[in-house]
Amino acid sequence: MTLVTTGDILARERAVLAFNVIQLEHAEAIVRGAEAANRPVILQISENAARYHGGLAPVTLATLELARTAGIDAAVHLDHAENEALVLEAVELGATSVMFDAATLPDDENVARTAAIARAAHERGVWVEAELGAIGGKGGAHTPGVRTDPAEAASFVAATGVDGLAVAVGSSHAMTSRSASLDFGLIAELAAAVPVPLVLHGSSGVADADLVRAVESGMRKINISTHVNGIFSRRLREVLAADEALVDPRKYLGPARDAVAAEVERLLELVA
Ligand code: G3H
Ligand code: ZN
Repeated sequence: MTLVTTGDILARERAVLAFNVIQLEHAEAIVRGAEAANRPVILQISENAARYHGGLAPVTLATLELARTAGIDAAVHLDHAENEALVLEAVELGATSVMFDAATLPDDENVARTAAIARAAHERGVWVEAELGAIGGKGGAHTPGVRTDPAEAASFVAATGVDGLAVAVGSSHAMTSRSASLDFGLIAELAAAVPVPLVLHGSSGVADADLVRAVESGMRKINISTHVNGIFSRRLREVLAADEALVDPRKYLGPARDAVAAEVERLLELVA
């Protein structure tokens, strides 16, 4: 078992879950949960997470090492990068998968810049995701209720050569309740029209049964971040509240990591 690309995983799996890495404990929890479920997984690091750490390299190199030594296949993906230099840096570091997110740009600029980055990443065997049609809730720049048009999505993929496409079908980033209402008919239409795997962002807002239905309707990469962050933070609060004298971070980060690992295992089994 080893570091693979998102494409390698999707070549043999109906769908894969991608969890965001904020810090080392997240990456460890994701790998442990995936090992317990005996399922492949994607560890993804966003441009925002890289900014938080003051650079992409330390968090990515640690995540790559965990992926290489995992007991299951794992991909390491750069998530929501709006900056071409960061995508190229991720490829240099050894990431096997990248998302170039130019969805806020005018369509012709999104196509030209995405096509150029896809060519560069493909030369290094890296799987490339892009986005068409803004997904609600990210950065406040997106219009809630926006949907991706199947015909436009198909031409975007043909014009850019990307390997996966993030689409807007009713989910919204950073929801803390699992109450999103997905358009399953549109997912099926997009899956029929678009020749590459579809990616669902903002999946924290999607209830268990709807995650399963989204996969049955044709979603193939499911991105989850806020939901596991909530589990991490709630467990951390519980442990700290139970012992005000606690000062060793391992004593509260460890239980929070265990809670995330258990949820990663459960969710991987849910969509298996
Ligand atoms: O790209 C990352 C995801 O879309 C995560 O979104 O935090 O709403 O689950 P979420
Ligand atoms: Zn996203």
